[in-house]
Amino acid sequence: MKKMTTKQLKDMWIDFYTSKNHVQIAPASLVPENDNSVLFTTAGMHPLVPYLLGKPHPKGKRLCDYQKCVRTNDIESVGDESHLTFFEMLGSWSLGDYFKEQAIEYSFEFLTSPKYLGLPLDRLAFTVFAGDESAPRDEVAYQKWVSLGVDPSHVFFLPKEHNWWAAGETGPCGPDTEMFYITDKEPCGPNCSPACDCGRYLEIWNDVFMGYTKHTADGKVEELEKKNIDTGMGLERTVCVLNGYDSVYDVDSFQIAIQKLEELSGKSYHDSEDVTKAMRVIADHMRSSTMMIGDEVPTTPSNIGRGYVLRRLIRRSINYARSLNIDAMKLLDVVEIYIDFFKDYYPSLVDNHDLIISELQKEIKKFSNTITQGYKEFQKAIKNLDGKVLSGEVAFRLYETFGFPIELTIEMAEKEGLSVDMVTFKQCEKEHKEKSRDQSGKVFKGGLSGVGEMETKYHTATHLLLAGLRTILSDTIYQRGSNNTPERLRFDFNFDRKVTREELDQIENYVNKIIEEDVPVVCQVMPKEEARKSGAIGIFNDKYGDEVKVYTIGKYSKEFCGGPHVEHTGVLGHFKIVKEESSSAGVRRIKAILEPSK
Ligand code: ALA
Repeated sequence: MKKMTTKQLKDMWIDFYTSKNHVQIAPASLVPENDNSVLFTTAGMHPLVPYLLGKPHPKGKRLCDYQKCVRTNDIESVGDESHLTFFEMLGSWSLGDYFKEQAIEYSFEFLTSPKYLGLPLDRLAFTVFAGDESAPRDEVAYQKWVSLGVDPSHVFFLPKEHNWWAAGETGPCGPDTEMFYITDKEPCGPNCSPACDCGRYLEIWNDVFMGYTKHTADGKVEELEKKNIDTGMGLERTVCVLNGYDSVYDVDSFQIAIQKLEELSGKSYHDSEDVTKAMRVIADHMRSSTMMIGDEVPTTPSNIGRGYVLRRLIRRSINYARSLNIDAMKLLDVVEIYIDFFKDYYPSLVDNHDLIISELQKEIKKFSNTITQGYKEFQKAIKNLDGKVLSGEVAFRLYETFGFPIELTIEMAEKEGLSVDMVTFKQCEKEHKEKSRDQSGKVFKGGLSGVGEMETKYHTATHLLLAGLRTILSDTIYQRGSNNTPERLRFDFNFDRKVTREELDQIENYVNKIIEEDVPVVCQVMPKEEARKSGAIGIFNDKYGDEVKVYTIGKYSKEFCGGPHVEHTGVLGHFKIVKEESSSAGVRRIKAILEPSK
């Protein structure tokens, strides 16, 4: 088997597909454009959805790339052998050009040719779709693999749960054929197959025959006029398998960080299970944080949406650094290593170098100041515990006073064999919000930092600004970033040219008219799906679970959002745009202020 580095596999992939007349496209931002159903780009095909649905791609019908991706459903599992938050996916596409048989021929050549991966055929297994009411049993794919010399016993027909691929509840989808490496592990039983996770079969590649689309969550799939191929190979995972490693963290793009952590802590990666896990978590989380802040559309730590995910990753890293006796500021050494390692592939890391460092410094400083004290509180609380449940009051105090994301407290508790009383935690959160409201006559948000009156006003003004942008400029505009201080609002949105002063005046007038009308701001809590169907826009945030808050401002605006907001627009004063500038490629930034009404 060929030993390979991540860079070698990445380059080999691009060489192969460009030699087959595919055009290499640049990786897209981690922040999905025009898609508010997820926080981050989750797969290589994600930025290509409009083209998979038929829109002509400017670069043609055959494309290839490497794409940065983030998946955050399993943050707590990071640190085992295989879970990651950030990863890279190698992708290639046929947009209505060649289909199944040609795609399989390419995959076969890349897997087996000595010029490329050179894997022996008896080490490879394949799965194909067994068929159901959406699509027929995939005899074509089966026959194709067999005609290329694959032993029929190495091709498995599997049902939808294994061999149907879709990025989300709606959108392009289809049956797939998955490719597996067969390890030295003995079969786990007579029915051992790629469908079981005993470890004998390791998936390395997926060719999706994207011939369908699904319109609604419960709807049927419909055949696409132009059928596509979407292939995806997880970079780190495949390098792990090709090198015979036990864990994805043995791959070069993590080992560079782990070696640094060994040096910083004076411990060896294999010293104990705890040390191994801590180093893996830090290596993963710092890599993701570097990529999120260093993206073309930078994410910065905050209490909502992407910023909250980032904050959790950073604070978790600080906590684990503490367990290794590493000064948290030293995590920046790891970040520098990552920037240097990835800079040729993702140039925005270089452009954003200073931003990455300063945002991390700020967040580390903020959290490090209180973590020791918070940790003492936690220790004291668990010492005095009668049963197996940490009180919700303590969890809330850790959250409110010490900035421990609740997920971190739950994790620390679990480590001690405890659970957290979440009912009381939620109750405390609610009471805190009510108390703050009583004190100020305004709705305050509980959390790491209270939101004051002006910030609350800017929050509502931001919704009106977005409504104005969508009305005056284009209804394809979405939020790409938002930050409010008591002095001003800052809002980033997708738009590909300068906004003229005339247009800015129109937007200002639009917002001021709604303020003059003194429209009530109504908050409703509803299931996510219902919110989505009601036409509300905004960022779906897993943090809020299945229920989301939808804020409606008359007929002008309907967004999901954690709040807080003012109760009616009349209190906002006079809205004024003070600056319009480029934020990054395809993203504009507006700064605006509220002045007392004249
Ligand atoms: N889009 C497919 C995947 O992510 C190729 O597995």
